Amino acid sequence: MGLAEAIRYSLEAGGKRVRPILCLLAAESLGAPAEAALSGALALEYIHTYSLIHDDLPAMDDDDLRRGKPTCHVAFGEAQAILAGDGLQAEAFAVLASDALVPAERRLHAIALLAEASGWKGMVGGQSMDLEGEALASYGLDHLKTIHRLKTGALLRASLEIGAVLGGATPPQRWALREAGSALGLAFQIQDDILDATSDEATLGKRAGKDAEKGKITYPALLGLDGARQALAEATETALWHLQSLPKPASLEAWARYLATRTA
Ligand code: IPE
Ligand code: IPE
Ligand code: MG
Ligand code: MG
Ligand code: MG
Repeated sequence: MGLAEAIRYSLEAGGKRVRPILCLLAAESLGAPAEAALSGALALEYIHTYSLIHDDLPAMDDDDLRRGKPTCHVAFGEAQAILAGDGLQAEAFAVLASDALVPAERRLHAIALLAEASGWKGMVGGQSMDLEGEALASYGLDHLKTIHRLKTGALLRASLEIGAVLGGATPPQRWALREAGSALGLAFQIQDDILDATSDEATLGKRAGKDAEKGKITYPALLGLDGARQALAEATETALWHLQSLPKPASLEAWARYLATRTA
């Protein structure tokens, strides 16, 4: 009871649904129906929500506000929050594996991509480096970029690539979506850093100013706000460049532009 409620609480708290939208639009950019990627979209949001529940735990970022509500562990206790994350992670793979509308080979490929992007070579690895980095006095832009590409970029990249696979992309199309996703993923975390430094709690639905308070190394901390905005613009341009070769890229391009200017 407590567990199901905790899972529902975090999923239904809202959020921008960026990863599922990118997944659906990636399929659409190929001329496939967006629904072809529906199980991928669900799986991505489940993994993402799990990553947020764990990211907010006292052992990690120790945050009490998420998606405009008390964090999962504040509402349900730490043990249930850990288990809610674990449960969502398993459910992500279950929903992909059991999508009978998608050919088995595509399902398997999508599962492999999600496993790599969310595991130690992706999100979880990046989260580990991010936390280890808090104990370091300083490190440079290359190291920060690696952390950002892993902790946030990997799942964003997988969002486009899983949409590509489920939508039946040719190898060059899949490559274009993967490269676009990689650039968008970096851009997304740069903007997250910028918003933490410039926005407020009411707009973000989570605490602002936490990075500076913790002395965290971020794009604005290393490059200043103008430098961070420049890096964001460059990563967005790279993404747009890769998208232009696709049959129907307009909606995905519009989202890439929106993500660079988002305020929450
Ligand atoms: C926040 O992600 C955490 C990062 C990976 C930067 P989002 O900004 O997509 O969070 P929601 O889903 O809208 O709450
Ligand atoms: C989190 O990065 C990335 C995840 C894998 C969840 P942050 O710690 O910067 O995300 P927020 O700012 O708490 O949403
Ligand atoms: Mg964090
Ligand atoms: Mg955090
Ligand atoms: Mg942040």
